[in-house]
Amino acid sequence: MVHVQFNPELLSALKDQVVVLTGGATGIGRSTVTQFAEAGCKVVFGDISEEPARDLESKLGPNVRYLHCDTSSYSDQLSLFAAAESIFGRINVVVANAGMAIHKDIFDPSSDISVEPSMKEVAVNLTGAIFTARIGMHYLRKNKSKGGDLVLVSSIAGFKESGGLATYTASKHGVLGLMRGLHTTAFPEGIRINVICPWMTKTRLVKGIEDGWHEQGLPENEPEDVGRSIVLCATANRSQEGKTHPGAKMPFAGKILWISGGEAYEIEDAIQDLEPQWLGEKNSKVLAKGQEFLASQGTSWDADKLKKKTANGV
Ligand SMILES: NC(=O)c1ccc[n+]([C@@H]2O[C@H](COP(=O)([O-])OP(=O)(O)OC[C@H]3O[C@@H](n4cnc5c(N)ncnc54)[C@H](O)[C@@H]3O)[C@@H](O)[C@H]2O)c1
Repeated sequence: MVHVQFNPELLSALKDQVVVLTGGATGIGRSTVTQFAEAGCKVVFGDISEEPARDLESKLGPNVRYLHCDTSSYSDQLSLFAAAESIFGRINVVVANAGMAIHKDIFDPSSDISVEPSMKEVAVNLTGAIFTARIGMHYLRKNKSKGGDLVLVSSIAGFKESGGLATYTASKHGVLGLMRGLHTTAFPEGIRINVICPWMTKTRLVKGIEDGWHEQGLPENEPEDVGRSIVLCATANRSQEGKTHPGAKMPFAGKILWISGGEAYEIEDAIQDLEPQWLGEKNSKVLAKGQEFLASQGTSWDADKLKKKTANGV
């Protein structure tokens, strides 16, 4: 792991950049919208919590717009992005932050097996993030070589066992999968994808454990700390003068930032570097060969594409 510190000098690169963010009404999203706005960005955020969203919009002025957007609805997200482009002309930064947790454990032995459980955590946290990434990339591609930044909010539950939260954990592991599935093809297009994995952050999501956590003296994040790490990802590659956030290995793309005690730690590079150790030298070597084949020009998972090529003699 590498401790990555925030360098406020990079904020100037955000001036007049257009940000689209899901789930901006409360908590981490609210703080992130505020930080982007204070850095001179134009922000369009979606949410389903009308009252706090309208309140934020009116506090931050005309450069910040709120639109009702249920992140699990593809058509709502299409409208959110289309509105952002029509109001501000382009989109430079996309943040998939909307998320929710159902604290009733569907795997509890006392739960009623005959009742189909809600899969809303998957719909909001994972399907919603996939929709944001797909539509977001469509707009970021329009910036041609300038590309843009896509920041996905996962969780400590994105890589760690989280008892009592199995569906939430599956959805947040999926967000890491989304980054790993997209990063290598998005990066050559100029689109940097990074993931934030917050540990305990004092928002309404953690009300059940907050007091006990505090008594244990465990590290806590304020929503502002997580918002700052999102801004860190969106600025890391933007300096014209070669400035960086200390600790950030460049290019800053395909990274995972774990946020604990208000600090950001990059963990993906170590996971990749240590692969020969946890997978074994031999397995790691042959895996690299397979990865190389899959990434090579002309390889496609789409069997129909292969047929077309063969028919065309390509
Ligand atoms: N608080 C933590 O300790 C913690 C830890 C790890 C990850 N996270 C993640 O951080 C993100 C922000 O959570 P938070 O802690 O700020 O909680 P929060 O409840 O304050 O914020 C979540 C936001 O998402 C919105 N939202 C929920 N469902 C939505 C939907 N269907 N469509 C659009 N918006 C929707 C909510 O209205 C709210 O504004 C979430 O993705 C959450 O899973 C939080």
